[in-house]
Amino acid sequence: MSPPLVARVALPAAASLRALIDPLLSSHRGASTSPIRHTPPAPRCGCVALVGAGPGDPELLTLRAARLIGAADVLVVDHLVGDGVLDLARPGTERIYVGKESGHHTLPQEQINQLLVRLAREGRRVVRLKGGDPYIFGRGGEEVEELVAAGVPFEVVPGITSACGAAAYAGIPLTHRDHAQSVVFATGHRREGESALDWVALARPHQTAVIYMGVGQLASHCAALIAHGRGAGTPAALVENATTPRQRVLTGTLENLPGRAVAAGIRPPALLIVGEVVSLAGTLDWFTTTPATLAEAR
Ligand SMILES: C[S@@+](CC[C@H](N)C(=O)[O-])C[C@H]1O[C@@H](n2cnc3c(N)ncnc32)[C@H](O)[C@@H]1O
Repeated sequence: MSPPLVARVALPAAASLRALIDPLLSSHRGASTSPIRHTPPAPRCGCVALVGAGPGDPELLTLRAARLIGAADVLVVDHLVGDGVLDLARPGTERIYVGKESGHHTLPQEQINQLLVRLAREGRRVVRLKGGDPYIFGRGGEEVEELVAAGVPFEVVPGITSACGAAAYAGIPLTHRDHAQSVVFATGHRREGESALDWVALARPHQTAVIYMGVGQLASHCAALIAHGRGAGTPAALVENATTPRQRVLTGTLENLPGRAVAAGIRPPALLIVGEVVSLAGTLDWFTTTPATLAEAR
């Protein structure tokens, strides 16, 4: 199995990213920037855009996300929003950090929900920035439920979820006709009292399983997959800080990956990817092996 790889590709500076997207955004100005569901009455009614900021590389933002960030009055920002994304905001845009790291929550979820309602009621254009996609293990559904209950206009902008970002940048196609006909995303983080993950479903053959938020329980997750029928030699990978210059990819098998992860000091944010597709990582890697000329062109 290959050793951990560390990316050498430089990300564009914020200024060059702005220069790149500004013409795209201005040619798109005719399109509506208002929230989808209700037309804001005058005087201006506030609104909330729940925006997926993608897995880390700011160039993986959607154009709509970039435009809304650039037009926002206030950004309410999660822990895993990538470096460079906030630089797209206008100077003076208020930033409120509500990040939730494991075991350390700046604001409880309830108060985040209420904050969004309050800011919108003050007539502000609020962008709620969440890492990856807002509706994948991001509690976006709970925030939108609160906005609906409060009658606050809103929209949701999807983002590239970290599983897709990590897979692409690690050279691991999540599905492949020869190896995996389905892919399943699960979270390793459960609320107290919740039942265990459906290991039978996760351990199905010819499937890729991606487990978010699972670094702390890596050994027990790998053991559970083996106990429910996945071979101990099934290829498995951890992708840490995916799509950023700090990305590390650690490959192994269900049996030896936990030990390798401890030795390598893998820490969140990281994803566990399990399945035969992981065996392609060495061949399909491009992020760490891109020739200098191509990297410069990017
Ligand atoms: C609260 S979940 C949020 C997921 C997010 N909504 C998404 O769609 O990717 C946080 C988990 O996502 C994964 N994650 C997010 N960004 C990551 C990154 N750049 N590299 C690896 N894993 C990441 C990690 O498993 C992390 O613990």
